[in-house]
Order: sequence, then structure tokens, then C-alpha cells
Amino acid sequence: QSRIVRIEENEKYTIISNNGKKVTAEKIIIASHYPCINKPGFYFGRIYADRSYVVAVKAKEKYPGGMYITAENPTRSLRNQNYNDGEIILVGGERHKTGQGVDTNEHYNALIDFAYEHFTVEDIPYRWSTQDCMTLDSLPFVGQFTAETPNIYVATGYNKWGMTNSIASAMILTDLITKGESPWLDAYSPSRSTVMASAKSFIVENANVAKELIKGKVSPISDDIEIANGDAQITEVNGQRAGAYRDENGQLHVVDTTCTHMGCELQWNAAERSWDCPCHGSRFSITGEVIEGPAVEPLEFQDINTIKKLMTEDF
Ligand code: FES
Repeated sequence: QSRIVRIEENEKYTIISNNGKKVTAEKIIIASHYPCINKPGFYFGRIYADRSYVVAVKAKEKYPGGMYITAENPTRSLRNQNYNDGEIILVGGERHKTGQGVDTNEHYNALIDFAYEHFTVEDIPYRWSTQDCMTLDSLPFVGQFTAETPNIYVATGYNKWGMTNSIASAMILTDLITKGESPWLDAYSPSRSTVMASAKSFIVENANVAKELIKGKVSPISDDIEIANGDAQITEVNGQRAGAYRDENGQLHVVDTTCTHMGCELQWNAAERSWDCPCHGSRFSITGEVIEGPAVEPLEFQDINTIKKLMTEDF
């Protein structure tokens, strides 16, 4: 239950956790989904986070078996799963960059519409969404973290094919550590030549990050502080941009919406009730804890007494 916040290098490597614990090792594998270390490597300039959605459908029809994915857009995938005495059908699809795009509930609604078009739906007992790290040439980064850090390894960028790419990554890293080589290293190496060939995509991707960074800083702040239960809004507390969420009991939770990774402004994710970063995909809870990296530090959280005081003044 510890979050790694730093790696120090002396004769060996020492990883430091958020609760001050230390672990020393000769070799380290960074397999934290989005790499939690910014430098060296600068993976934040080469990976973006992309979200996907699934709804679990109880249908009148019996599922015919098999797994399916559409060739056309928008992508939809189908598979089934035993559920109590029957089965549920998992309808997957929809995608967007984390922290960017329309109200996230619309993605669930699109999958639900698809389910109603193709099945006699009796119930939709579950829904969930997730995100994965996408690389610019669609292959994962597996191997030495950088050429200068031969004993730090990385496995990331599974491009939504985690069940297969994680197995491939484990095989490559095992070979690299025990034999010093892997037959697939040329294709997967984080410093492969095709990464350089993706320079145009790299520039486009980072221009998008810069756009989101600036957009977040200059977008208008709402001065309408009427927030319904279960809803959130970007507002201002004591001259500072802040995100306010009112829970089902009417209690207000206010956080500083400046991402602790590199300072982009967070966006509200209405479907998952989280604050999501449009730059590299960090996600935070309504009380500011890190849900997903690369951020490792929580958001500044305004406690309720401060809020009450501010509400009686100018909030
Ligand atoms: Fe990088 Fe937020 S995740 S700035």
C-alpha cells in the first residue's frame, strides 16, 4: 500500500515511498502503468492516456459464444461472462483522451444505445471505465528505462492490449535481466528508431498538452456557485481556481484543480466523479487523493471548516 515518489541512485537504487519507506535493489522495474518518474526518460512526452468504457448487459437472448470486435468505427466489442445462474454480455467501446471531450456519461449512453439496438435488454447491472497508456507508434515501451540507466527497466504503453502486451513484457524483461538480451528488444525498446520516426506525432501530441495547459489557465471560471447534489463545478476560492463537488448528502468537497504532476488544470469527470488531467491522464478523487498517475502527490484539499468560513465571506 505504498506509492513510490522517487528513485535515488548510489551504488544501488533506492526507491522512496510516500510514507518515507525505502527499498534498495540492484535492478528496478517501473511497471506502474504510466511511469511515475519524470526524469530521466521524459515518458510524459511520448505517452498519452486514453479512456474506454464497458457496460454489462443482462439480455433475454442467449449469447452465441465467442469474442467480437468491430472493424469499423466507432469500435464496439462483445463477449460474455457467467453471472449468478445466467450470463451477462460485456459491451465495450468508446474512447477519448483522459480529461478531454464531452460529458463522460455520454460514452456510457452510447454503449447502452448499442446494447438496446442488438439485444432485448433486461438489465444493465454494471458499468465501468478505465484508461491505458498509448504510444505514438502503437507498440509498448519495454526494456531499459533509458540508455543511461541500464538497471532500471520499464514496461508501459500497452495500447489497450494489456492482457497480451503484459505477458510479452514479462518475457522480454525476464530475458533482459537473466540473459542480458531479448529477441524482441528491437521492436519494443523504448529507444527504438521508430520512436524517432514518430517525431511528427510527438510534436502534435505535445502541442495538444501545451494547448490544454494554456486552455485550463485561461478558461472562464464560473461565478455561479449553485451546485446540485452529485454535481461539480470549477469555481474560485480566495482568488484561487478550485474544483467544488457537492456529494449526495449536500457536503461540499473542494480541491485545488492544479495537477500536481506538471500543473495542468483538471477537468471534472461526471461519470466517475473524479478530477482528471487532460495533459498526461492523472486522476484524483473528490478529496484529492491520486487515483492514477503519473502524478504522485495528492491535490491540496480545502477542509470543510475553511469552506464554511469562506462561504460566509465571499464564496
Ligand atoms: Fe501531467 Fe497532469 S498528468 S500535468
